[in-house]
Amino acid sequence: TKPRITVVGSINMDMVTETDTVPAQGETVRAKNFQTVPGGKGANQAVAAARLGADVTMVGCVGDDPFADSLVTNLQKEQVSVQYVDRIRETPSGLANIILSEQDNRIMIVAGANQHVTTDYIKERREAILNSDYVLLQFEIPKETIEYCIQLCKQHQIPVIVNPAPAMTLSASAWKAATYITPNETEWRQLFKEKNDKKLIITKGKAGVSYWEDDLEQTAPSYPVEVVDTTGAGDTFNGALAVALAEKYNVAEAVTFANAAAAISVGKIGAQAGMPTKTEVEAFLTQSRG
Ligand code: RIB
Ligand code: NA
Repeated sequence: TKPRITVVGSINMDMVTETDTVPAQGETVRAKNFQTVPGGKGANQAVAAARLGADVTMVGCVGDDPFADSLVTNLQKEQVSVQYVDRIRETPSGLANIILSEQDNRIMIVAGANQHVTTDYIKERREAILNSDYVLLQFEIPKETIEYCIQLCKQHQIPVIVNPAPAMTLSASAWKAATYITPNETEWRQLFKEKNDKKLIITKGKAGVSYWEDDLEQTAPSYPVEVVDTTGAGDTFNGALAVALAEKYNVAEAVTFANAAAAISVGKIGAQAGMPTKTEVEAFLTQSRG
């Protein structure tokens, strides 16, 4: 049977501008291309897990602007349950302004309806969490909601992956109640002052992924792939990690699987565009083992 994964988090429309030059202060530059594509860390993780074969439920909010319909339709098209996705009146959907250049990507997010994913909103939809094998959280919804969800998971012994992106500090008891915490290197520095902990799984881009197995710190190397767009790579990693752990892979196997899924995802523009199926990840792993 399919693992049941619940994602509590953000749903955004990504406005992606591709440009050779990033404008300096007061400067106007001619950019190459513009696209609107579905994103948001929560929705991205949900789509990643669904493509990998999980039974995924999204808990989140969209607004009542023209983007709302296409965001919901996109989740449905990806087989993500939207039973717990509400539309908030007179509110814009979450939005991400993304500047994509050769060097890097820069993102500004506007919370919009994601701000309405409150503790009360979750309390009324607790069954979504209680009916899951694994829960995924990221930091584009209110902090109280994240802390509440972590404690709820803990109370009911439901494992929860906490992806602290973008970085925000939680209470010590919330960090403690998380099953796994998955920062990237920058978030790890900001939040944990480089201190390590056995529940940390740290994604370090080209330097691979570090994690703990028994009492030893391990590193899973990155895969040499051609990078077109890294937006959503972390989300793909987290979605895949949840699927693998829910399917009882051990942590080393789960990290390898998630790392491969993320490597594949950077080949296409758009957070969700390059996210692989399970067959694709397995083929990639077989090939990379030679
Ligand atoms: O992690 C990538 C996501 O971050 C984008 O899809 C954008 O919506 C921002 O939330
Ligand atoms: Na991509």
